[in-house]
Amino acid sequence: MTLDIRLIRESWSLVEPVADQVTLDFYSRLFAENPRIRELFPPAMDLQRDRLFGALTQVVLNLEDTEGVREYLGQLARDHRKYGVRPEHYPALGHCLIAAMRAGAHGVWQPAYDQAWAAAYDLIAEVMIQAADQDAVTAPPAWIGTVVGHEMRTPDIAVLTVEPNHPYPFRAGQYTTVQTALWPRVWRAYSIANAPRHDNRIVLHVRAIPGGWVSTALVKHTRPGDTILLGPPRGTLSLEQATTSHLVFIAGGTGLAPLKALIEESVWMPERPAIDLFYGVRRAADAYDTEALNNLRMQHRRLRIVQAVSDEPGPGYGQTAIDALEYHRIIPSGDVFVCGSQQMVRVTSDRLVRLGVPAGRIHTEYTPDAPVPVG
Ligand SMILES: Cc1cc2nc3c(=O)[nH]c(=O)nc-3n(C[C@H](O)[C@H](O)[C@H](O)COP(=O)(O)OP(=O)(O)OC[C@H]3O[C@@H](n4cnc5c(N)ncnc54)[C@H](O)[C@@H]3O)c2cc1C
Ligand code: HEM
Repeated sequence: MTLDIRLIRESWSLVEPVADQVTLDFYSRLFAENPRIRELFPPAMDLQRDRLFGALTQVVLNLEDTEGVREYLGQLARDHRKYGVRPEHYPALGHCLIAAMRAGAHGVWQPAYDQAWAAAYDLIAEVMIQAADQDAVTAPPAWIGTVVGHEMRTPDIAVLTVEPNHPYPFRAGQYTTVQTALWPRVWRAYSIANAPRHDNRIVLHVRAIPGGWVSTALVKHTRPGDTILLGPPRGTLSLEQATTSHLVFIAGGTGLAPLKALIEESVWMPERPAIDLFYGVRRAADAYDTEALNNLRMQHRRLRIVQAVSDEPGPGYGQTAIDALEYHRIIPSGDVFVCGSQQMVRVTSDRLVRLGVPAGRIHTEYTPDAPVPVG
């Protein structure tokens, strides 16, 4: 089946300006016509609305990059196994999607767009179904993780050690998704704060957001012995992205987690890169992992750690992590990894570019459907 990329893009440009309305209409149709499918989705659907369109935009904009699109859809399909999605669900979704687009672009929609989209959707569904089938040979749809450690490091931040019930293959720098028994069908992303270990355990740094469903459940209502569900590992952050041997890591809050995993990994490398870690917290008491960082520094002679405290006065205080980098007159000549809240990553990346760091050397977790970790 061949794709008519021109027709797909032409019709997409008609739908994109009314994406919100089309998405709403799409879900109304999907759930009205298929009440059983509603049971797969979480009670509140606001995030998912943007994500489905985000994913489709990603696919439509990159249709020529067949390999890239297949890889992206493959990861999405592996992740969809944990939702309980089955091959027979795909046609219903495709049908409602095309009907909603047709209604959204009422008056300018052409019959040829229907055919072009039906072909494109069939192809997307085929790639996703195949990838899910292939994944099912070696991996469960989700892992049951037993919480074997739960340490409150600050009143809001807990460090959880979790033991998955099957081997959990991931790369340092990736994140997992978590569902707790308190919030069925609600999944949230958490960075894995360690490099892969022989004991198959993973460590998560979780900050409870006021009113936050999953973070509060994990920090305040989870104890050793409890179980949570883990989705497959995701994300692209990796030391392999680095092209130089002097690395600068800039972390804000629990954005430390994936960078700590990369530092742990670097300790085992035959030629360790030099790493300057600038770690920003609001108050000194928010620095929840100082002892572990000091241990890593003992193991890695070329690791330097500078802590910045933004919201307290005092000598060396009043600085964010990027302020501290400038204060120490470091002009990064190599790769820079940035993790923290969405705003922290944006502000830091802008300042790095102004300092002359090429955008291609700034690495941060980016998935089209997800913001970066919270601060
Ligand atoms: C790739 C990735 C990695 C992540 N890694 C981590 C991690 O290592 N540690 C960690 O603690 N979190 C991490 N997060 C954030 C995490 O996924 C959740 O978004 C966060 O825990 C809030 O979820 P919740 O269910 O508790 O809050 P929700 O119930 O989703 O939100 C409740 C309310 O709080 C608001 N809110 C959501 N986030 C914030 C915020 N950061 N600050 C203020 N208000 C907010 C929402 O808008 C909403 O109004 C990561 C996110 C991504 C995308
Ligand atoms: C064209 C094919 C599809 C695309 C592009 C797509 C895209 C997405 C995206 C981007 C997400 C956000 C979470 C993630 O990244 O994993 C998501 C979540 C989800 N999808 Fe799909 N999806 C597709 C097909 C389906 C089908 C056929 C079903 C089953 C009816 C389904 C059910 C779900 C559910 C239940 C969620 C979780 C919602 C949430 O947590 O808020 N998807 N999908």
